[in-house]
Order: sequence, then C-alpha cells, then structure tokens
Amino acid sequence: MAKVPKVCLSGGLEICRILNGMWQVSGAHGPVDIPKAVQAMQAYVDAGLTTFDMADIYGPAEEIYGLFNRQLRTQTTEGSTVVLQGLTKWVPRPSPMDPKVVKAALQRSMSRMEVDRLDCVQFHWWDYGDKRYLQALGYLADLQQDGLIGDLALTNFDTHRLEEITSKGIPISSNQVQYSLIDQRPAAKMEEFCLSHNIQLLTYGTLAGGLLSERYLGKAEPKGRAELCTASLSKYKNMIDSWGGWGLFQELLVALDTVATGHGCSIANVATRYILDRPAVGGVIVGCRLGVAGAEHIEDTLRSCSPELLLTPADLQTIDAVLARSRNLLQLLGDCGGEYR
Ligand SMILES: NC(=O)c1ccc[n+]([C@@H]2O[C@H](COP(=O)([O-])OP(=O)(O)OC[C@H]3O[C@@H](n4cnc5c(N)ncnc54)[C@H](OP(=O)(O)O)[C@@H]3O)[C@@H](O)[C@H]2O)c1
Repeated sequence: MAKVPKVCLSGGLEICRILNGMWQVSGAHGPVDIPKAVQAMQAYVDAGLTTFDMADIYGPAEEIYGLFNRQLRTQTTEGSTVVLQGLTKWVPRPSPMDPKVVKAALQRSMSRMEVDRLDCVQFHWWDYGDKRYLQALGYLADLQQDGLIGDLALTNFDTHRLEEITSKGIPISSNQVQYSLIDQRPAAKMEEFCLSHNIQLLTYGTLAGGLLSERYLGKAEPKGRAELCTASLSKYKNMIDSWGGWGLFQELLVALDTVATGHGCSIANVATRYILDRPAVGGVIVGCRLGVAGAEHIEDTLRSCSPELLLTPADLQTIDAVLARSRNLLQLLGDCGGEYR
C-alpha cells in the first residue's frame, strides 16, 4: 500500500494529506450505526489514514471519534502506538462572544472527543455583517496560548476576511474550503494569499460527493431525493448545475476517464491528485460513510497519493480543455464560502 504523505501545519500539527471526512456520519447521508462507525475507523488507521475531520454540528461525529480514541488508548496500553489527529470545527450561531462561551464550546468538543486538548479547531462564521467573529477568534487565540488548542484554523472564510483576521495577529494555520475540478474559486485569490502567509488549504467537495467517479460516467442526470440520496450528492449536484450542467460534466468525466485509464487508476484518483498538486493545498478531505457496507474506498483513495501518479502536461490539457467551457463560479457565488452567506 502507498505510504500516506504528511504535511505540518504552522501551529505544529502534522496531518495526513488525505483526511477522513466525518460529515458523512452526521445523519444527512443515511442512518448511522455508531458502534459500526467506530469499528470502521480501524481500517482507515491501519492503512495509515490517521487524520479525521469533524465538527460540533456533524451529529455524533465527535462522539464516534471519542469512542474510537478510547478503544485506541486501550490498545496503546497493550503496546500499539498509533496517534490520531482530530480536527474539529466550532460553528456557532452569531451571538455574544465572551471567553466563557468560547471555552465552553471547546470543552464540549474535548469531552465528546475524549481528549484533553484539541489538535486543531476550525472556526466557521455565518454572517460577516456581525463582526463578533473577530472577538471569538481573539479568545480562541488566547486559549491556544493556554494550550487548549494546537492549531487555530478557519473554514469557509473568504480571502478578504482571511486578510483582515491575520492582520490582527491571529495565527491562522489553515482554511477549509471547497476546492475541486468543478469549484476552482480558491485558485483566483485565496491560494496566493495562503502561500504568502504559510496557511494551508484543506479541501472538501474534491470528489463532489462521489459524482466525480466512474459510477456517474455515461449516466443520465440524477434527479430528486431518491437518486441524490446524500446531503453531499445534492450539494455538489447543485454546484454542477451552476458550473455548466450535466452535459458538460459528462464531458469532464470522459476526459478524466481517458487520463485515469492512461495511468491505470480511477477518476477519483485523478480528481484528488489534481487538487493535491495545487500549490497551497495541504490536504484533501475525502468523505467516509463509516460503517456503511460498500461505501469504503480506502485502497483506491491511497492510490491518489502514490508518487507514481504524476499528471502530465498532456493530462492537464485534456482536463483543462473541458474546464475552460464552464461558468465562472467566483462571479456567480463569490469567493470561498460565499454559498453559505
Ligand atoms: N467545511 C465545510 O463547510 C464542509 C462542507 C462539506 C464537507 N466538509 C468536509 O469534507 C468531507 C468530505 O465531504 P464531501 O461532502 O465534500 O464529500 P466528498 O469527499 O466529495 O465525497 C465523498 C463521497 O465520495 C465517494 N468516494 C470516496 N472515495 C471514493 C473513491 N475512491 N472512488 C469513488 N467514490 C469515492 C463516497 O461515496 P459513497 O459513500 O456513496 O461510496 C463518499 O461518500 C466531509 O466529511 C467534511 O469533513 C466540510
């Protein structure tokens, strides 16, 4: 099996460049069996995929991580030395922010995750008109100084606010944003800012909820809840509609299939590699429907980070020829995270 490459965030946390995404256990992607989900985490860890991404609002995700963490500690006393990296998010409703509110939110996550310090907290804010995000981040930075948080990070912040926040001296190490062959908004401004400020992008939507795979090649447009049966599929199908529609998407899948066949890999591998190779991207988050039979792609996922998978200029040309005919999502939706506001 390919070794999983690592990257070090500026706060000191070393993570895998492929992260296991846990939105898929929130309940919005089908029913979740907690014991089964906990058991399913072991195969990821055994494959070297030890970094998990979750949020306080992803249903039982933090608890599932905590239960697995407890199980792992028992193994540790028996001689195993696996270390997990747990990145969570704090996603508060805009409301008064004071040190007590901020600390209580972190303590809730720590207790669910069964840790005494959070490896990384990614902060989300719904409304830029409400400037209390600056207060919240200031308190988070204080708690980082106190040792409660390793890396302080953001999710879905645009370049303008990232600039504002870092100019106040708040040490941000990553911003989690949507970044895929479909949604290339980060390439417009965000990437350059991140590169010049040692901030890593952690990306989601890179597989468009699974739409960027052989499963949808040559298939009729999926419609309705029965066919778009996870929150992820319906979210990214909307993105495809804005981007250029199902016809153009099929052309993209054909181009990706040509490239994938040339490398003896999958469409998902090409879609992941393309984003992993972007200059400011630290890691790609791949959603995992933990405990759902037939929904585990570990072996294939590992191929995305194989050093043998090198996209050539000709591969990029094949892909970019289709992308050049898509709509400009930056103009339609605004910079990163614009669709949430
Ligand atoms: N910050 C935010 O606002 C935000 C928003 C969305 C997501 N996220 C994070 O990003 C993670 C990723 O979620 P996402 O919604 O963006 O989904 P995604 O990673 O684009 O897609 C995940 C789905 O792709 C399919 N898949 C995975 N590997 C595959 C492979 N090798 N070949 C073929 N299909 C494959 C699986 O579908 P099946 O299960 O059907 O097989 C899986 O459920 C989330 O769990 C969360 O941690 C963050």
